Amino acid sequence: MLITEKKSLKIQERDMTNILKFKEKNEITDLNVRNKRVLVRVDYNLPLDSDGNIADDRRIRYTLPTIYYLLNENCKIILMSHWGRPKGKIVEELRLDPIARRLRELLPLYRIYKVDDCIGNEVKAMANKLNQQQILLLENTRFHPEEQKNDDDFAKELANYADVFINEAFATAHREHASTCGVAKFIEEKAIGFLMAKELKFLSHTIAEPNRPMTAIIGGAKIEDKLPAIKNLIGLADNILIGGSIAFTFLLAQGYEVGMSQKDLAYIDTVKEYVQLANEVGTKIYIPSDVVATEDLRRIIPVEIVSTKEMNKRQIGADIGPETIKEYTEVLGNSKEVLWTGPMGIFEQKEFEKGTKELAQFLVENNITTFVGGGDSAAAFEKFDFEKDISFVSTGGGASLAVMKGELLPAIDYL
Ligand code: 3PG
Repeated sequence: MLITEKKSLKIQERDMTNILKFKEKNEITDLNVRNKRVLVRVDYNLPLDSDGNIADDRRIRYTLPTIYYLLNENCKIILMSHWGRPKGKIVEELRLDPIARRLRELLPLYRIYKVDDCIGNEVKAMANKLNQQQILLLENTRFHPEEQKNDDDFAKELANYADVFINEAFATAHREHASTCGVAKFIEEKAIGFLMAKELKFLSHTIAEPNRPMTAIIGGAKIEDKLPAIKNLIGLADNILIGGSIAFTFLLAQGYEVGMSQKDLAYIDTVKEYVQLANEVGTKIYIPSDVVATEDLRRIIPVEIVSTKEMNKRQIGADIGPETIKEYTEVLGNSKEVLWTGPMGIFEQKEFEKGTKELAQFLVENNITTFVGGGDSAAAFEKFDFEKDISFVSTGGGASLAVMKGELLPAIDYL
């Protein structure tokens, strides 16, 4: 249901300097990299399955165009990444050896070395010995506390391996760390890679220069993360469709009973303020008119479709209902571009997957240009096998949310 007034106001002009700042940056093809030593920051922070195998290697595969480009340019390539959150200490399970193995499978014609640290004399010697068209993968940069402190000496040691720095790690671009930011201070020739460029172009176009009407779908949990994005999108998006557990704080702010659904009372006033703001600038905000609810999420019984006007105190909303799907697909059907972050319900469970699945299917079937923020939304698109059919699924959850919030990504700023 629409909770803002139906005014036909023009979306307000906004200062887009931050989001479009990357356009001033060099892209890899702007540099002369021929025969040079190139340090590439990638984000190979990959999910593992229960057997410890890489569950999703998209973040490796999507960097291959940059790697191939550098190989064709006869470069020596040094790759660096973090993996997980080892907190500045060596954690054996977070060594990058499985990543080196996957890289060797993907690039069978090339020699790929892996070292057990990312700084120090041995690594330096290995980097010096590297031949053209060979690749050296450094160890997890977060094994050193200096990485997250963006320490200059540490950054300098990394920078010393190369003549050129390519930042290809969009998913970590919101972190001001030595390997994402600091190194850029110590290497003159630097640029963004193909994946970083694609992510930034797609995301900034959808937010700053969209074909209208543009609709944002915002779902998932963590309302504290999503509200700043909603605030920033008010006045940029024509419509905002709210789903996931954050919808219950919106429903509560409108005076509805939401039972035992996940909600956050601390944000009720902020939600009211943003709805008021949306009214003033002409962005239409929609919240669910019905939900799929249960009284026990573990046993999932009974599952009922209930109008949001009629929820009882024991119910837990876990997905948007059919009326809401109908209303949301009507809005999407009239949209030219869509920005999506956060699922509509607990899509991991069959009983609560329909909201996310049917909206995704609608976008795919109707060929509506859609940018999907990473994280849970990307996982949902992968689960339903829509990833290859949708315009673009980002590799970065936190980073794409940061851009949606209107923040300038530090990694871009340092470049
Ligand atoms: C991610 O997966 O979002 C990035 O690799 C950043 O990881 P972090 O949240 O541990 O900094």
